[in-house]
Amino acid sequence: MTHQDFLRSLVDPKDRTPLTLSDDGKTLSSQAGTTYDVLEGGIINGLYPKDLLAEDAREQYLYDQAYLRYDRGVSWVFQTLNDSDEAATRQFMIGLMELKPGMTVLEVGAGTGKDSALIIDQVAPGGTAVLSDLSPNMLRLATEKLKSETVDIHFLLANGSYLPFADDTFDALFHFGGINTFSERKQAFEEITRVVKPGGKVVVGDESVAPWLRNRPTYATLLKANPLFRAEVPLEDVPANALDFKLHWIFGNAFYVMEYKVGAKAPEVLIDLPMPGKDFVDNWRVRAEASDREKAE
Ligand SMILES: C[S@@+](CC[C@H](N)C(=O)[O-])C[C@H]1O[C@@H](n2cnc3c(N)ncnc32)[C@H](O)[C@@H]1O
Repeated sequence: MTHQDFLRSLVDPKDRTPLTLSDDGKTLSSQAGTTYDVLEGGIINGLYPKDLLAEDAREQYLYDQAYLRYDRGVSWVFQTLNDSDEAATRQFMIGLMELKPGMTVLEVGAGTGKDSALIIDQVAPGGTAVLSDLSPNMLRLATEKLKSETVDIHFLLANGSYLPFADDTFDALFHFGGINTFSERKQAFEEITRVVKPGGKVVVGDESVAPWLRNRPTYATLLKANPLFRAEVPLEDVPANALDFKLHWIFGNAFYVMEYKVGAKAPEVLIDLPMPGKDFVDNWRVRAEASDREKAE
């Protein structure tokens, strides 16, 4: 897909109506009059809301300040976590997406592009990698590092809770390292699931020390030093149509990574299916109603 075609495929992150590209190729406008600028180097500023909510604004500021030391800092973190092999663990996470050459992938919170390079490798030749982040400085570093002759790479400033893509756009989606602090985390899960085609894989990970390790002295020190490691795995935010869900603990069991397939619809319980081999009507609905009656007595 050419960059112009990519720009024309974007929708308004607020209401998902189509955007129109200006003749000079520098602005995308919605029917309601909202504009999104195409910045230097072709990076689209698709951020919504324009005034970010407090936690998102704080994260954007922190990463915009820390971008030059980020790669060094994060590698040190992983080394402290049971002397983890960062490269092998990142390969493991990317492998969960089951990518193939030619696929179209979105990375949310791509940062400086540490995982993006692996994604690009795996969709080559002929694939498309859309790399998005909240922080202009982090993303700019990624643009300097990532090049490919055989994969279309598009860079985009975007809030993971408001993605400027039509439903079912991507074959797979990856996010690692930021979602615990997103201001609207539940909405982000809905968004990252909405933009993936039914059958496509979603892989999401962030800090969370495994519950069985929290009282061990070295982990207790880590939890005190950085409260982000106290985060719980956000299972309650996973959308209803997540299928084949699996949870892994990585990096010394101090981070989680979840994988699921996007289902065309949510699974249901057959609450009226009669139990076989009984000479009276019994099913989940009958039992639930009996339970309600018992509670009322
Ligand atoms: C810890 S870094 C991880 C970067 C990269 N994924 C990695 O593994 O090295 C978290 C990234 O998430 C981005 N981020 C934070 N909040 C975000 C949001 N609401 N939407 C999109 N990205 C966000 C930050 O700007 C930062 O680049």
